[in-house]
Amino acid sequence: MGKSAVCGLRFLLVLGILTQGSNVHFVSAQSFPALVCIGASQSDVGVNNNVQGSVARANFLPYGRDFINGNRRGPTGRFSNGKILPDLLAENFGLPFPLPYNNPTATGAAIVQGINTASAGSGWLNGTSSALGVIPGTQQVQWVKKWQQNLVAQVGASRASTIVQESPYLINISDNDILAYFQSTELQQQYTEEQYRKLIIDTAVSNIKDLYSGGARKFAVTSVSARGCSPGQITRYQPTKRDQCVGKIQTFVQKYNTEYKGATQSLQSTLPGSKFFFADTFSITVDLFLNPSKYGFRENTSRACCGTGTFETGPLCNSLSIGTCLNATNYLFFDSEHYSQNAWRIIVGTFIEDLKSSLLTQSP
Ligand SMILES: *[C@@H]1O[C@H](CO)[C@@H](O)[C@H](O)[C@H]1NC(C)=O
Ligand SMILES: *[C@@H]1O[C@H](CO)[C@@H](O)[C@H](O)[C@H]1NC(C)=O
Ligand SMILES: *[C@@H]1O[C@H](CO)[C@@H](O)[C@H](O)[C@H]1NC(C)=O
Ligand SMILES: *[C@@H]1O[C@H](CO)[C@@H](O)[C@H](O)[C@H]1NC(C)=O
Repeated sequence: MGKSAVCGLRFLLVLGILTQGSNVHFVSAQSFPALVCIGASQSDVGVNNNVQGSVARANFLPYGRDFINGNRRGPTGRFSNGKILPDLLAENFGLPFPLPYNNPTATGAAIVQGINTASAGSGWLNGTSSALGVIPGTQQVQWVKKWQQNLVAQVGASRASTIVQESPYLINISDNDILAYFQSTELQQQYTEEQYRKLIIDTAVSNIKDLYSGGARKFAVTSVSARGCSPGQITRYQPTKRDQCVGKIQTFVQKYNTEYKGATQSLQSTLPGSKFFFADTFSITVDLFLNPSKYGFRENTSRACCGTGTFETGPLCNSLSIGTCLNATNYLFFDSEHYSQNAWRIIVGTFIEDLKSSLLTQSP
């Protein structure tokens, strides 16, 4: 009651409202109040910089050399030359870039429009990140719930609950769980591929339910992209066949994505008022790898910009790396595992409008 009065006042000024019986339905809001991000390196904007002892970092050149955000320029911890997924979403939504949860400046008014807990090297499974000491997905969910509580102190219970319910939760995690399986004979002996996929998805589902119980309603869940096509995976598994993606990873990822999408659809039908958007980027990222010129990329996609372009990532991609390209614009990958800013723009461009129209509609 109190909440819909606040919403009504807020939107009445800019939007038409449609009255049906006694319920007020907002025709469509223009944007979201905040953005929350849970993820791994493809969404890490600096969490690992403040994780004691972590080497899975990118807060040094050549990372960030094309990054510009207001007065902030240069390396930040993002695994790319410039902006990455959460930045492009925030930009499109007209929101500031959500700060890393554990950054000392992420307090007070600075957290009202969102937070980012993504930690490079992590996964849904605690075991995926334990060797690196980074923040697993389960712990990120607990951070997000603390953020929700901190919001109350900032804006009061009523506004906080509106923010929590109307903001999208980007869930961009699980590729490291998958890569870990192929690197570990122990995991392969312990689980069949099918059992392992189920383990990741069950963990994802229980964590998403936990977010829902804290009030979250709008979820932007990403598929895993064509990870078998990254230069680093090609070097690891088939260094003499650089123009092909690694088949066993690709097959696993495709099955995973289908099952993961199915799980989000059943969550939507069982959690009242929830709305899920599943961003499937598998096909576009295969096509970018195989047909780069279609998208304006002039360089061979099996070679990244940083260093030799075949294995360097994290600490191995640094200002002393020999061979780093001068201009990343024509490269699909900036380092051997992570897309360039230019690639991110194309990938995000394939789903951003659908994401918005899907999550901005009123839940039934
Ligand atoms: C994973 O770690 C979190 C804390 O970070 C803990 O709450 C959870 O129980 C752990 N899950 C498993 C399956 O060990
Ligand atoms: C993160 O999202 C992007 C874009 O949808 C996708 O390409 C990538 O594979 C996702 N990563 C994970 C770990 O889900
Ligand atoms: C890209 O480079 C690799 C390794 O040098 C080579 O095998 C492949 O044929 C090249 N692809 C194209 C499209 O030139
Ligand atoms: C990189 O190349 C693109 C076109 O290929 C150009 O538009 C851009 O200005 C170049 N950037 C730098 C930093 O030289």
